[in-house]
Amino acid sequence: MKIWQDVASLYQIYPRSFLDTNGDGIGDLNGITEKLDYLSWLGIDSIWISPFFVSPLTDFGYDIANYRAIDPTFGQMEDFQALLKKAHNLDIKVMIDLVPCHTSDQHPWFQESRSSRDNPKRNYYIWRDGKDNSEPNNWRSLSGGSSWEFDELTGQFYLHSFLKTQPDLNWDNPEVRAEIKNIVRFWFDMGVDGMRVDAIWGISKDPDFKDDSTNPDFYGNPDNYGAFIHDRCKMGPHFQKYLQELASVCDEYNDKQMVFEFYPDDKLGDIYHQYSQILTVHPKASAFFMEYRDNEWHAKNIEKKIENYLQSASSTTPFFCIGNHDQPRIVSRLGEERARVLSFLNLLTPGISVIYYGDEIGMMNGELTADDIRDNFSPANSVVDSRDLERTPMQWNDSQFAGFSSAKPWLPVNNNHTKINVDSEKIANDSLLNMHRKLLKLRQTLPILKNGDLSIVENTGNGFILGLKRGLVGQRAYIFINFADEKQSFSVPENAKIITSTHSVNLITAENLQMTIPGHCGVLLIVQ
Ligand code: GLC
Repeated sequence: MKIWQDVASLYQIYPRSFLDTNGDGIGDLNGITEKLDYLSWLGIDSIWISPFFVSPLTDFGYDIANYRAIDPTFGQMEDFQALLKKAHNLDIKVMIDLVPCHTSDQHPWFQESRSSRDNPKRNYYIWRDGKDNSEPNNWRSLSGGSSWEFDELTGQFYLHSFLKTQPDLNWDNPEVRAEIKNIVRFWFDMGVDGMRVDAIWGISKDPDFKDDSTNPDFYGNPDNYGAFIHDRCKMGPHFQKYLQELASVCDEYNDKQMVFEFYPDDKLGDIYHQYSQILTVHPKASAFFMEYRDNEWHAKNIEKKIENYLQSASSTTPFFCIGNHDQPRIVSRLGEERARVLSFLNLLTPGISVIYYGDEIGMMNGELTADDIRDNFSPANSVVDSRDLERTPMQWNDSQFAGFSSAKPWLPVNNNHTKINVDSEKIANDSLLNMHRKLLKLRQTLPILKNGDLSIVENTGNGFILGLKRGLVGQRAYIFINFADEKQSFSVPENAKIITSTHSVNLITAENLQMTIPGHCGVLLIVQ
């Protein structure tokens, strides 16, 4: 079995939306198992599956009621074991989601905790008295409103950084830390290869529970999340220590990996300092780099982001990423051409390239009406901001439900599935899918693309071209990307041979060490 150091890609599967094998309109674990052959064909060598544990599903599985059992919506433990076995036979590693900072309010720990003030599990969660007939402080929940919910039974408030059905665990309690580490061991012992660790910024909070500062730059409803600077509710004094303790479970095993979900907050200081706080926690722990979300589409912007991240990454494996189940689809954000070139770049940067299911075929945001919305985080009746947009069913073919299910799916299939689907892109040579496949195979066969170091090519001639150089024991590879709409020229090194490109190579010309490429084109060169 491949070791993590040799893994080149991570494919994220949102299990509700990948493939439904039992005809209830919701994807399941057997559906993932069935499609592992497709992922292997594509050249994927690790997957991350979003939560499938027992849950009332108020946040579709990010509200866990039993960390060690499978929710019947997704299947049974034997199904998961069969999935794991088949994945390993195909040399695909399996990463699952660990949600360490909150549980469901239906979890037995919380049921006990809320039952009385002197219950032994009271301190598993964060309970406080109100202040002046109101919440204990001004902290806001990411899903809207106050982070505090009053519980009649014991007359205190509990903290929930997300939905009120997701009470925050108290990481200052060593018993809680021990429980979570045991959950990690349970899955690692079963053969799971790694953990994607959910929403870690609140793992440590201000011990005095002081108010967050107000944000002077915010105009709008003063109760909004954005109306505050989250200087007290996140990244408290034990932030690194708790992450380190969690990641150290990897040391008990041969080859396990963790990757933290972390969005740095520019209101809390330099974002790369925040990245480096995480990326230096443990050699087996990394963080997703999700910084391509702004709309500043120019070479220098992207160049700076890559350089800064790599500098903060020290010796951990970088996880470059352009989409996930919480962000609008990249094609909808950037348009087809830019999304294609960003995927090209993402697959040629060092470490592990992360692909969100469907991004390999260019899936777009769903066309949803207010009645379709299922995500409880969605502001009332707002389709525009709903995370359901990026969670619509995988488009396998052009049939009624896109080959996802035989029944009406839990979210509507995008109408564009008649054109954008795996089957039709498999046979179109220049499809986004075939570009992914080609690059994923290259990443696996050319060690320079995965492990080679990366530097910036200075003086590419003008501000439109991003030039990256990869190097590994005497070998060199170059990636040039044109951020302009029109064709651009730049100089290339001697003896550089085109390996692949986002566009047909017939559209690329080279003369006297000057190369000209079309707008929004990316090209990979290797020096022979
Ligand atoms: C993470 C997940 C998101 C979830 C939240 C609360 O950000 O990615 O989907 O709603 O945590 O668990």
